[in-house]
Formats: sequence, structure tokens, C-alpha cells
Amino acid sequence: MPRVKCAPIAAGGSGEVGMASKPKILVTKLLFPAARAVLDKTGEIDYWAGPEAIPRAELLKRVADKDALVCLLNDKIDAELLAAGPQLRIVATVSVGYDNIDVPACTARKVIATNTPGVLDDTTADLAWALMLAIARRLVEGDAWVRSGNWRGFSMDHLLGADVYGKTLGIIGFGRIGRCVAKRGLGFGMRVLYSGSKRAPVDVERELNAEFVEQDRLFNESDFVSLHVPLNPQTRHLISKENLEKMKRTAFLINTSRGPVIDEAALVYALESKKLAGAALDVYEQEPFIHAGLKRPNVVLAPHIASASLETRTKMAVIAAENVVTFFKGKKPANMLNPEAWKAG
Ligand SMILES: NC(=O)c1ccc[n+]([C@@H]2O[C@H](COP(=O)([O-])OP(=O)(O)OC[C@H]3O[C@@H](n4cnc5c(N)ncnc54)[C@H](O)[C@@H]3O)[C@@H](O)[C@H]2O)c1
Repeated sequence: MPRVKCAPIAAGGSGEVGMASKPKILVTKLLFPAARAVLDKTGEIDYWAGPEAIPRAELLKRVADKDALVCLLNDKIDAELLAAGPQLRIVATVSVGYDNIDVPACTARKVIATNTPGVLDDTTADLAWALMLAIARRLVEGDAWVRSGNWRGFSMDHLLGADVYGKTLGIIGFGRIGRCVAKRGLGFGMRVLYSGSKRAPVDVERELNAEFVEQDRLFNESDFVSLHVPLNPQTRHLISKENLEKMKRTAFLINTSRGPVIDEAALVYALESKKLAGAALDVYEQEPFIHAGLKRPNVVLAPHIASASLETRTKMAVIAAENVVTFFKGKKPANMLNPEAWKAG
């Protein structure tokens, strides 16, 4: 498979932490020119240039002599990988979610882990909103109908959907992205409820006109439930059969967080038994596998593109690159997930 070796283009990378020569960095995607420009100044870079994700065996092989790894959310960074790369000092994922990284295992080996928070909030919120509008207003069904050639002109009762404007929006996980989704609700005149592990400051609630409620009440009262929690043991299958039964039969579920937050078998059952009006999903339990029961007209399926604008993906890649470069300058990277590993190192 393709291997692109880029020689360093400048004599940068000075002040490297405890390194006599330039750091060797494995990057599991060619990324974007702006990010490569940052990395190429710092070290000897080994880019995986294949169109698909780097195969696991190849990743384990190539990491063997590397000091740093810039990875994507589908590269699993676990004890096996850390053992395969004994020289690793830093792992930088090009994503805000870091459920792909075993952070305690990194800390145990004094490997710094970083992510890319903040730059994708609005882009992800836009996609959550696009999904919400698409499922409520049956946009994908309509598009398919027009393309099929069967459309015979305006009809009073064809493809009747549900209003978004003025409805109740329930946001689970009221962090950076959840709040951006709430902000868009203001423009749609929506009542916004949120639940989460902690309550937002009062001024944030006031600005976003959002009400903190118990999760059960959010399920009971929302017309749209949008998920914005990280994937962790507490949130895995948060959308269970039991919780789906608390939702209105007319409600829609939107997921731009991580697939395993939803028990997909339970969701399919809820849709089949008409306990839920529909769902719009960007993420899946076992990507890229799509549960056959989700391929139905009242489900919109997006291919994990919530942060996929050119501007935002470029910013994410640059931030990941800068985290690595900063580290090799002997400074603290901006987005450390395990600052305790820095102290230990
Ligand atoms: N589909 C995509 O491409 C895409 C893009 C960006 C982010 N994401 C996902 O969105 C997630 C959220 O990103 P963010 O930047 O807003 O994170 P964040 O940390 O700012 O917000 C997460 C919120 O969830 C809350 N939370 C944590 N555990 C919870 C629980 N058990 N129940 C309820 N609330 C809980 C936290 O208190 C926090 O308010 C990321 O972790 C990532 O997995 C997906």
C-alpha cells in the first residue's frame, strides 16, 4: 500500500523533548496541505496515503519506530498499539471524540493524548439541524420521488411531514455542540429542554432559553431528541428500549454523537412498532455496517459527516498537527486529554 515519506522542509523542531534527532511521526491519513505544512517542518513524517483507513496490521507495523502518531477516530489506540510503538510520546486524534483512545493506557505509558475540541461545534450543529429538517420534512423521500420520474406536480396531501418551528427540542449532552444546537433552536422559536451530567451556568441557560430537566421528562416532552454526549461506559446504549418507550410516538431521534449511544436493535424495534416517528443518524453502532432495519423511509442516513466541511476538517487536522509540534518543542499541547502524563514525563 502507498507510503509517502516527506522529508522535513526546514530545520525546525528545535527544543525537542529529550530527542537527539527529528521525531518520527506516523500520520494515518494524508490530511490537508495546511496540516502537512505544520508537520513537515517538525519531523520525519510517514503518511498513510491509502484511500481507505490504514489496516490494523499495517498500523501496528509502522508505529514500531515512531515517536508520535496522528490518527483518526477509526484508528483504535489501545494497549496493543502502545506496546507495538514503544517509542511513542504523543498520540493526536483528529477528532473531538476520543473513545478510540484508551487514555488510561496512554497515561500508564506516559504517552500524551490530544484531541481537537472547539473548532467543529457549529459545523456539527449545522449537520444535526440538517438531519432534523430532513427527517421532519421528508426531504430525502421527496428527492427520491422527484428523481424517480413519478412526480406529477403539486399535490395537497403528498409527503406531509411535521413542523420543526415552534416544537420542543430535547438536547442530551449540553456541552460545546449541544449548546450550538440549542442556539439554532432560538431561530426556530423552539422550546429547548436539556439534560446532562451537569447543569449549565444560569447565564448560558438564559441566553439559549434552555431549561435543565430530568432525562425522563426530556424524553416525555420532546418532539426532537438530539444526542451530543461523548461515548463512554455511562452513555453506551443510553438510547435503550426503555428510554425509547418514554418518547412521544410523534417524536424524532437525531444522532450526531457516536453510534453506540443508541441500541440500534431497540431503535429498529421502536420504528417498526411505530413507537417513534423517525430517526436521522450520522453515526452507527458498527460503522460502516448499517442495520438492515434502519434502511426505511422514515430514517435519514448520513455517512458520519457531521464535521465534514472543508474549512472545519482542515482546522481539525491543523490543530492535531500543532499539538504534536508543540509537544516536540517541549511545551504543553493545547488539548491534552491526560495532563497527568505530562507531569509524569
Ligand atoms: N458525528 C460527528 O462527526 C461528530 C462530530 C463532532 C463531535 N461528535 C461527538 O459529539 C460529542 C460531543 O462533543 P462536544 O465537543 O460537544 O463535547 P463536550 O464535552 O463539550 O460536551 C459533552 C456533554 O455531554 C455531557 N455528558 C457526559 N456524559 C453524560 C451522560 N452520561 N449523560 C448526559 N450528558 C453527559 C457533558 O457533561 C457535556 O456537557 C463528542 O464526544 C463526539 O463523540 C461527533
